[in-house]
Amino acid sequence: MNILGVESSCDETGVALVECHASGVPTLRAQALHSQIDMHQAYGGVVPELASRDHIRRVLPLTRQVLAAAGASIDKVDVVAFTRGPGLAGALLVGAGVACALGAALGVPVMGVHHLEGHLLSPFLSADPPEFPFVALLVSGGHTQLMRVDEVGSYELLGETIDDAAGEAFDKSAKLMGLGYPGGPALARLAEFGDPAVFDLPRPLLHSGTLDFSFAGLKTAVRTHMLKLGSNVCEQDKAHLAAATQQAIVDVLVRKTLGALKATGLKRIVVAGGVGANARLREQLNAECTKRQTRVHYPELALCTDNGAMIALAAAMRLQRGVGQPQNDYAFNVLPRWPLVTA
Ligand code: KG4
Ligand code: ZN
Repeated sequence: MNILGVESSCDETGVALVECHASGVPTLRAQALHSQIDMHQAYGGVVPELASRDHIRRVLPLTRQVLAAAGASIDKVDVVAFTRGPGLAGALLVGAGVACALGAALGVPVMGVHHLEGHLLSPFLSADPPEFPFVALLVSGGHTQLMRVDEVGSYELLGETIDDAAGEAFDKSAKLMGLGYPGGPALARLAEFGDPAVFDLPRPLLHSGTLDFSFAGLKTAVRTHMLKLGSNVCEQDKAHLAAATQQAIVDVLVRKTLGALKATGLKRIVVAGGVGANARLREQLNAECTKRQTRVHYPELALCTDNGAMIALAAAMRLQRGVGQPQNDYAFNVLPRWPLVTA
């Protein structure tokens, strides 16, 4: 069975074709992505209306590109999956509308997928796929959650951020330092030239005894340091501050993830979402996991940030297990604030 996946929840248009059988891990046949970073850069962040319009321009050419790369004709598509939420309403509507129109034209079912479930399952497309159950650390621009994952669709929330997400902490700190958008990769690049010990930054809720996170105070501390450094701040000081910020975020993420392992007694971790691309996070988590004989799985770097492959994959894994039904009526709505699990 071939599943076409369409992702359009934010600033990336992603399309992919995934093949699945009755059992076994589905395989990625082809994927294509268009990032809107260049377009939004001038505004220092995502402009929702521009995002929607760009998705409209990109989604069909990307679909043609994916089918050509897979050597498959459109009539080989058995199910069309799309991101139903969470995300920007207008952007989601583009993907949902196109997916449902394609489904109707082809006479095949469609399936709305939760964006975070896509992230969560994305390591299954890596060369080293995980096995259930595992602890998932979901770290994206809008979410920071620790979950116990027993199977597809069986998620238990262990902890989450009470204010900013980890990616937001990277992005907002980067903005305060005058770095580009998206801030996470820019801050991480600058951090390579800095010493994290030069600035002492808070690690909120580190010893709270819960698995919840808080990153808003960190951003305030970065703002205070930037104000103290003044407008003539040198690149080296900025690099030290970037390194300290990254280290504070990583310390909290790693500590809480280890706490989740202890609380659940599980021996396997999956890290997913854009911040999962962070090299320092991977390095520190790998080192701690080696000490504890715990396996840690990541998506391929190209599948850490938003993409269509994870959406097709999540639909495929649900279909394989009979979790959730594809629909044949092509009436659709989107869910911009759709929780994957609630506390
Ligand atoms: O999962 P994602 O692509 O989109 C959302 O669903 O939010 O995550 C985007 C987030 C942004 O905040 C971005 O700055 C962050 O992931 N990010 C990184 C890195 N690459 C992306 N943060 C830290 N280090 C990175 N290398
Ligand atoms: Zn995402």
